[in-house]
Amino acid sequence: MAFWRKSTLSRIENPCFLIFLIIFQAIFILLLYRGSSSVVLQDHLDIPNQVDYSKTEDVYTNLSLYAPVLDKTTMRYCTSDTVMNVGPLTITFDILPSERTIIDKNPYVQSGGCYSPPHCLASYKTAVIVPHRNRERQLHHFLYYLHPFLQRQQLYYCIYLIHQDGSGPFNRAKLLNVGVREALKDDDWDCLLLHNVDLIPENDYNVYICEEYYPKLMSSAIDVLDYSLPYWTFFGGVTALTPEHYMKINGFPNTYWDRDGENDDIAKRIQIVGMKIVRTPLVIGRYKTVDGTQLSDFPQEIRPQLHTRETWKDDGMNSLDFKLLAKKKYPLYMNITVDIGAAPMISLQGKKEGNKTSFGNL
Ligand SMILES: *[C@@H]1O[C@H](CO)[C@@H](O)[C@H](O)[C@H]1NC(C)=O
Ligand SMILES: *[C@@H]1O[C@H](CO)[C@@H](O)[C@H](O)[C@H]1NC(C)=O
Ligand SMILES: *[C@@H]1O[C@H](CO)[C@@H](O)[C@H](O)[C@H]1NC(C)=O
Repeated sequence: MAFWRKSTLSRIENPCFLIFLIIFQAIFILLLYRGSSSVVLQDHLDIPNQVDYSKTEDVYTNLSLYAPVLDKTTMRYCTSDTVMNVGPLTITFDILPSERTIIDKNPYVQSGGCYSPPHCLASYKTAVIVPHRNRERQLHHFLYYLHPFLQRQQLYYCIYLIHQDGSGPFNRAKLLNVGVREALKDDDWDCLLLHNVDLIPENDYNVYICEEYYPKLMSSAIDVLDYSLPYWTFFGGVTALTPEHYMKINGFPNTYWDRDGENDDIAKRIQIVGMKIVRTPLVIGRYKTVDGTQLSDFPQEIRPQLHTRETWKDDGMNSLDFKLLAKKKYPLYMNITVDIGAAPMISLQGKKEGNKTSFGNL
């Protein structure tokens, strides 16, 4: 240090050297910034600092104003002029809505859970992909809120339920890979919205579209996590990636059976390929958990050692194998049933920790 100072001082009169020093420092700071943090907090548009969640509005408010235009040939593209955002939404789980109720309240949802605005041409296509097994109760609440929520945003969308067949360990990340592959056979989606079935968005300004450059965490603030990020690189719950983002990281890992860590693996993939995670601001990216899912569904600080750097290129979309058992249109969603195979014994016994691996639930 002292040596460096001395030799610098002796050259400091030289203006060329000064300029060189300044440029060098700027480059150093840039490198440091890129390297140290793979995550930037994104705030854009004019998002308010404070939102009053004690005043809420029904998610179906004025939705009937989005009615078919008589003359289709004069239909224009949807614009922000016609958006009817209400902000904070009233969300309760006291009454379980029946399928009939949800269908009746969403007359323009087509078979397979798809919707395109009847009053304007949607300029954005989002596939909502939901891993699922034995969560019918949560599914009903989810569909009751998600359909009108997405319609308010004037999106063209479909809801894909990826149903894991059998009773083996659940594999959320692999189901999402299946969902992405199947959804992309149907349409060239602008955005893949990967969604847990038990999370309900609380604010319709949380628009279900992707960021152009980086994967986005939509669920920045979940009720059971005290409406804050559990840790800085958290990338679970509800996330939005374009098909390009998704393929760039070779999709999600297929090898996380009934255990925590797949979200961290995904966050790591994003970092490895040189992308960042952007997030919906905390005041907007709020979610309520149906039936207050156990906290253990969201791993906190104790997280497994990852080997993503060694595994990501060989474990993902390019190694995905599954048996498609059914792809059936239901009135409110597409039900894709898959046999994703069984967890290999080595994974069940825990690769590194001998035989005392603990199992999370989900
Ligand atoms: C619903 O529509 C009516 C009539 O256009 C309007 O007066 C009212 O403010 C709207 N309500 C909300 C919450 O936007
Ligand atoms: C999806 O389809 C499978 C059979 O193909 C069925 O067992 C399951 O109950 C369905 N799930 C839902 C939520 O409709
Ligand atoms: C766990 O491992 C220990 C020693 O490695 C062994 O004695 C024990 O039987 C194993 N338990 C199970 C349930 O496999």
